[in-house]
Amino acid sequence: MSANSPLHAYIHGQITPLDQAFLHISDLAIQRGYGVFDFFKVHAGQPLFLDYYLDRFYQSAQLMELAVPLERPALMEVIQALIRRNDLPLSGIKMILTGGYSADGYNPVEPNLLITQQPLTLPTPELLATGIKVITHDYLREIPPAKTINYSIGIRLLKQIKAHGADDVLYHHKGVVTEFPRANFFLVKYDNTVVTPATQVLAGITRRNILALPEQPYSISVGTVTLDDVYQAKEAFLTSTTKRVLPVVQIDDVVLGTGKPGPVTMALLQALLQVEEQQQQTLIVT
Ligand SMILES: Cc1ncc(COP(=O)(O)O)c(C=O)c1O
Repeated sequence: MSANSPLHAYIHGQITPLDQAFLHISDLAIQRGYGVFDFFKVHAGQPLFLDYYLDRFYQSAQLMELAVPLERPALMEVIQALIRRNDLPLSGIKMILTGGYSADGYNPVEPNLLITQQPLTLPTPELLATGIKVITHDYLREIPPAKTINYSIGIRLLKQIKAHGADDVLYHHKGVVTEFPRANFFLVKYDNTVVTPATQVLAGITRRNILALPEQPYSISVGTVTLDDVYQAKEAFLTSTTKRVLPVVQIDDVVLGTGKPGPVTMALLQALLQVEEQQQQTLIVT
């Protein structure tokens, strides 16, 4: 994108300058917070792990009884056209599907599909070197496998997180740990085994990539994780598309291990970077 060319978005079936991309106030996303979305990275013009994100997007839509107005090949074409139009070196693409313009403000009609693309910032080396501190909160998302647009609790807790000098909040339900508002959770035990909550979570694509890592020296599995397990962990980290693997060094008042990002976490970050690199190479060749 040249300095003078504005970003574009897809809305109402066409690619439009972002400053002209509007949704009517009757949309169910505005009236009732009803909709789903997904988000993936684009590097050098290539969407990374797109198939997984599209699978999850269509699945979220199905879980929320919303029909995606484009079949998969057509959606992929629109994504490619938007990438060409915006021409950003490193970016994130968000696909949002709303309940649509509802006459009575409750019954869904034809969903609206919006696609936006924005430059992406990844965690800085400083943040990776210090890790983050998190608090915990009892909350279970209503439909955990669906990536809905409802982040009310996470956003409402932002002031509380700040008041505790923390960076994020880890959800648990009755002592069973699930996920962060926008990321999955992993812990490393003192025997160097790694575990991530098995159920009641969004199937994160980064979580999937960590679980599928080839030839790991560590045993990585899904299972039940309790708050007690968390407080006794040697290391912990979160995973997400934008954060990759981000070390967590304190949970509530408990400092984990040495209080610094640990070797298992950093090794898994390196392994994930390699998988991303391989994916980029594959896309350039194909
Ligand atoms: C609730 C929730 N869990 C986990 C994640 C991480 O998923 P991914 O690795 O696909 O970004 C997200 C991403 O936004 C999320 O919203």
